[in-house]
Amino acid sequence: MHSEEPIGIAEGIEEEKRRRRRRKKKEEEEEDLLHGADIFEDSDGDDVDDVDDDDDDGTPQNFYCLITGANSGLGLSLCCRFLAHFLLTRPPNHHLTLIFTTRSAAKSLQTTEYILTSLRKTLLGSSSSTAAGYTARYTLVPAFVDLTNLHSVYALSLRLRTSYQKLDWVFLNAGVLTTAAGGGVDYLKGARDFFINPVKALTTPEFKLQTLGEVVVQQGPLEGKAARVRGTPGGDNAVVVVDENDGLGYIWCANVFGHYCLVKGVLGLLCNGGVRAGERARVVWTSSLDGHARNLDPNDIQCVRGQGPYESSKRLTDVLALTWQSSAGVDPTFAGEGATAADSNRRLPRFYLTHPAICATNIAGQHPLIWYVMLAMFYIVRVICGSPWHPITAWKGNAANMYVAEERERVLERRGKVKWGSGCGRWGDERVRETLVEGLEAGKVGPEMEEVGRRCWGRMEELRREWEGRLGGGGGIGGCD
Ligand SMILES: NC(=O)c1ccc[n+]([C@@H]2O[C@H](COP(=O)([O-])OP(=O)(O)OC[C@H]3O[C@@H](n4cnc5c(N)ncnc54)[C@H](OP(=O)(O)O)[C@@H]3O)[C@@H](O)[C@H]2O)c1
Repeated sequence: MHSEEPIGIAEGIEEEKRRRRRRKKKEEEEEDLLHGADIFEDSDGDDVDDVDDDDDDGTPQNFYCLITGANSGLGLSLCCRFLAHFLLTRPPNHHLTLIFTTRSAAKSLQTTEYILTSLRKTLLGSSSSTAAGYTARYTLVPAFVDLTNLHSVYALSLRLRTSYQKLDWVFLNAGVLTTAAGGGVDYLKGARDFFINPVKALTTPEFKLQTLGEVVVQQGPLEGKAARVRGTPGGDNAVVVVDENDGLGYIWCANVFGHYCLVKGVLGLLCNGGVRAGERARVVWTSSLDGHARNLDPNDIQCVRGQGPYESSKRLTDVLALTWQSSAGVDPTFAGEGATAADSNRRLPRFYLTHPAICATNIAGQHPLIWYVMLAMFYIVRVICGSPWHPITAWKGNAANMYVAEERERVLERRGKVKWGSGCGRWGDERVRETLVEGLEAGKVGPEMEEVGRRCWGRMEELRREWEGRLGGGGGIGGCD
């Protein structure tokens, strides 16, 4: 009896400690979910810098990488970082053709100059050699695409198919948050939210202004940007000026559908690609911390009737990328006529999903003066409040892209389905993190997301075929045959 009592007390204390730990963990999880964040850190990062020369007999090898939206922000920085990384970590017999897209010749020229200047600085800073020694190992190829004009998407696919034999990486980076028709930032609401909860306000901002119901009407090739028609803001009962049957949801088309058609158009090239011997090509979809399950209505994937077209496009990106080649998600017609589940064992590319967390770019279309205020606020939430999702610079915002670009395929596949995020520590040290995604648990897509994925893949494919027929486009787009 005597000896049992202390044990009982000890057990009670232990039980209380366990209860507290559970409560704390639950609170932390709720907090993480609020921020869309997770605490997992990349434990395999040490593989990233490996130069993979297994099976490399020193014969020349050519690699091809396509990056969309390359003239500013994250896309521009990715071009610089990817190219420098390739040159510094791959053996001298590896050559990279970097194809980057912009929307005008002037932007292409500026982008080329910027990449070359950045490369010169990075390589001169490296101990291995001078920049001149690397020039034979890369080719920069500017390309044009406006993702809201399907003719332009078809033209780029055709150009790539006729110019190259394969593609090894495709980064689907281009994206819009606001549109020419309107949008931006509600500064008053932003300031109020910041004082209430600064980390939340600047991680999943709810003070973005978006034009609702905006569609883009497709015009002939080479007529520049497709015409946009502004819809009337509102919820389910909104009167949309131009019916979605006559146009395509603007933000959806720029962020998802244009890319989807592009990937379909170059699928044959991707099937021939692979980032190392024995590995497949990689398609990297750019998401954000904004997309929640509630933002996507599978009956309105273009979000022409809904409230948050940007958030909807990012949730759709998550769903498409995560359910690609899962048991139910992919519409087999995407992989080629008559394709079956066995196609997943063929050379179909791997889809990876990343997000840059929060970076100071011009995506919100803010006034230049406000940009500096925003920058200061980002540093406050990172350094003082300890936000894990404010890498701030575009270079650091590409940490997740670089990780999925260079990590070994078997390591990535072992981790299962993941949304990789560019996190960072208080002082800006890079940490690639897994991100909480509703419907995804422990690297596996749950049944609900599978079902939404099936519906979304089906609808995307339906729309792709319909518009290809209407525009007479595609130019012999095939699958992975
Ligand atoms: N910055 C962030 O904190 C953040 C957070 C989460 C996710 N992201 C995502 O990261 C990606 C890059 O964003 P960013 O911050 O770097 O923005 P950004 O600086 O505005 O760059 C966007 C790029 O996309 C291009 N683009 C826009 N619409 C296009 C269209 N219809 N066709 C072809 N290209 C088009 C832009 O070209 P133009 O110059 O010709 O417009 C520009 O090159 C986006 O997908 C965005 O959603 C960014």
